[in-house]
Order: sequence, then structure tokens, then C-alpha cells
Amino acid sequence: MIIEAHDVGVAIGRRRIIHGESVRCAPGQMTALTGPSGSGKTTLLHTLGLLLPPTTGRVTADGTAISSGSPRARRAFWRDHAAFVLQDYGIIDDEPVAFNVALRRTRRADPKVRAALEHVGLGGREGEPAGHLSGGEKQRLALARAVYRDARVLFVDEPTASLDAANRERVIGLFTDFARRGATVAIATHDEHMIAACAHRHEMNEPATTASIH
Ligand SMILES: Nc1ncnc2c1ncn2[C@@H]1O[C@H](COP(=O)(O)OP(=O)(O)OP(=O)(O)O)[C@@H](O)[C@H]1O
Ligand SMILES: [Mg+2]
Repeated sequence: MIIEAHDVGVAIGRRRIIHGESVRCAPGQMTALTGPSGSGKTTLLHTLGLLLPPTTGRVTADGTAISSGSPRARRAFWRDHAAFVLQDYGIIDDEPVAFNVALRRTRRADPKVRAALEHVGLGGREGEPAGHLSGGEKQRLALARAVYRDARVLFVDEPTASLDAANRERVIGLFTDFARRGATVAIATHDEHMIAACAHRHEMNEPATTASIH
């Protein structure tokens, strides 16, 4: 699935957060959204994933404008295609790791859940409360959920920010595998190693520090 931003701008209140961003995220590729802290990488990622509506411009999936679609179309996009690996988001701490993968009660030894957890290096931890995992492990848990659902589009925010070198290489490998299997992977990152692994790099426009909506 091709996910594209067309001249996207986001304003929050009177403040212009991003403006004039156009990027094409293609299947089978990792696309890096890069720029200094505060340049709007996370904001653009959320807009591409339909978590945040663009104030101007639009987001398309395979050429269809989805950012202006119905809430129902948005939900279908999340349910059928998209997965998110965001920071501090989406993990239910009180529920076991296995529940967090499938997002429903499964038989104790669901082989698909186990395979997804093994794939991200969390094998054997099905029964632990997700709240016991570290920040990096929670991100890998979110990735296990994407593996379990075989998501076609992945939205990822700073997946390597808190990792040591060995785990960073491993996480980069996991996302590379995902893209290799044909998924569209959009990653907000300032990690040069992660950027180097991406086929395509989109540099954010200069922050609109002096610009505001009148
Ligand atoms: N909900 C919001 N309300 C007000 N300002 C916001 C909101 N969300 C983001 N911003 C502002 O928009 C700017 C861009 O934020 P964003 O998180 O997209 O940047 P980033 O490039 O991801 O930064 P970092 O590299 O630090 O993660 C920041 O100045 C931020 O304070
Ligand atoms: Mg960010």
C-alpha cells in the first residue's frame, strides 16, 4: 500500500507545527522521516497514520484520499492494514504480554502469538504483565503485534532511541524484514544507523518558528 502526504500542514491552535510536507512511502521500503528535534517528525507520522487530521493538504492510500474519509474508513484502515510502534503508547500494562499481541484472550499457547513474540526476542514471556517490560521491550511488543496481524503498513516512532548498539542492530533488522516482506514502513528517527537502513529519506522542512496562522 502506497501512503502519501500531499502538501500536508498541521496547525494546533494558532501554531503551525508542520507545513508543505510531501512524502511517498512505498511498499517494500523503509522511509525515514528525519530532521531536528521539534521539526515535526512525530506529527507527520501521526498524520500519515490518520491519528491526526491534516489542517491543509491530504493523505492518500493507493491514491485514495483517506485523511478526509469517514471515521468508518479510518477505522477500517487501522483494523485491516496499519500497525503502530509508538513511544509510550498502545501497550496495556495490566494485561499479559500475550494479550497485548493478540488484543483478545487466546488459548494459553497460541502458536501464532508465540511465534510473533519469538520473532522479536520476547519468547517465553507470554504470561508476564506487560507493565513489567522495559521501554525497549514494549516497543518490540508493539512490533510483535504488527507481526501477529501481518500489518501491511507500519508507522514507527524512534524505535532505536533508547537502545544499546546490539539491540539497535537487531531492531533495525526486524523492521528491514518487515519491509522485505512487502510492507510499507514509515519511521520517524534521528538515528543515523536507522536512516542508513532506509531506502528513502524525507527531510522535514525548516521548523516554522516564526510562522503562525493568522
Ligand atoms: N498537541 C500539541 N500541542 C501543541 N504543540 C504540539 C503538539 N504536538 C506537537 N507540538 C509541537 O510541535 C512541534 C513538533 O513536534 P514533534 O513531536 O512532531 O517533533 P519531532 O520532530 O518528532 O521531535 P523529536 O525529535 O524531539 O521527537 C514541537 O515544537 C511540539 O512542541
Ligand atoms: Mg518525535
